[in-house]
Amino acid sequence: MCKRLLGPSDDVWQIHYDALARTARGEDIVLMSVGDPDFDTPEEIIETLVSRIRQGRTHYSPAEGELELRQAIADLETNGTGRTFTPDNFVVLPGATAAIYASLACICNPGDEVVIPEPMYIGYRPMLSALGLTARTVALDLNDDCALDVEALLAQINARTRAVLINTPGNPFGNILPRETLAQLAEALLERGVWLICDEVYSLFTFDEPHVSLLKAATELDNVVVVDGLSKSHAMTGWRVGWVASPASLTRAITAYSGSAFFGCSQFIQDAAAFALVHNGPHVEEMRQAYQRRRDYVLQRLDNIPQLSYVRPKAGMFVMMDVSRMSNSGLVFAQDLLAAQGVSVIPGEGFGEVARDFVRLSLTHKTNMLAQAMDRIERFVAG
Ligand SMILES: Cc1ncc(COP(=O)(O)O)c(C=O)c1O
Repeated sequence: MCKRLLGPSDDVWQIHYDALARTARGEDIVLMSVGDPDFDTPEEIIETLVSRIRQGRTHYSPAEGELELRQAIADLETNGTGRTFTPDNFVVLPGATAAIYASLACICNPGDEVVIPEPMYIGYRPMLSALGLTARTVALDLNDDCALDVEALLAQINARTRAVLINTPGNPFGNILPRETLAQLAEALLERGVWLICDEVYSLFTFDEPHVSLLKAATELDNVVVVDGLSKSHAMTGWRVGWVASPASLTRAITAYSGSAFFGCSQFIQDAAAFALVHNGPHVEEMRQAYQRRRDYVLQRLDNIPQLSYVRPKAGMFVMMDVSRMSNSGLVFAQDLLAAQGVSVIPGEGFGEVARDFVRLSLTHKTNMLAQAMDRIERFVAG
């Protein structure tokens, strides 16, 4: 596993690390390369955590997670989908990353294949490497609303395919997979005995159309796994709270996996997470509106820069900027932009070759900082 994990260093992340090093040296860098919300976790959630620690909620927790939190998730999913979920359908893990990793670990054996639409979230490949899995990719149509061609995806399936991993709303493009696509895919994969894992961590930050959960769209849930968490929706990246929704048989396996790898998550964090899910709707809505305003601001600035264009994100906290009129590589553009103007962005290549014409801007900044970043980008393209 060490050999698989410690591959050659990644140019794409190097830009971010260089930007961090320059910031640490006191240079004036605008860090647009990371998806960590600039909002602080809402105060009531923090107060709940502190009071639960004082109440002695500092002991081991069951491997599947605290009942109060799993009940809160079950209630939300029941209300959101019209289906009945119980706490037994959910396992709590330390973040969506652990939840996806645990799902893949329980579904697949080393040497198996996983089909993933590309561009894909930058975090998936390291998980596959760690687990000894191979990715087969299928390109989203960037000229058609990031449409997923289900037939093209199914053509990638072979005897070694154990799972398909999708992400909606998507990172980096903020695209939303339509309900029909999700339903069609789930059904076709059920017929083929393949699991469908759907990462929905941006589900609460949609702007132009509602997110439809795979838990609602799929006709049968026998092969369906949905991952979600609080990192983005509640500005809680450092708290490490995520979960898996899956059929009871897989939930039992993931619980056993979690018991062996983590021996449970913190009680007080889960208590505060349950509070967040039950009581913190207004804060989530405020943050959603802020991201929407920031997206609209950045797009309006880009509308006035003829050398640049974009694919309009419908959700999430990123804008993919098309730099193909300036450079034939997002990586080269990003390196030059950082060197010349001190703005760090993630090159599209990090999400797959299909996105090499793009760089990703993060909207995790107040508008005055976004204004500064856009001024610098404007100066850079003007030469
Ligand atoms: C699509 C996607 N999935 C998962 C994660 C990781 O979430 P967590 O912090 O809950 O592990 C991220 C973080 O950027 C993401 O963008």
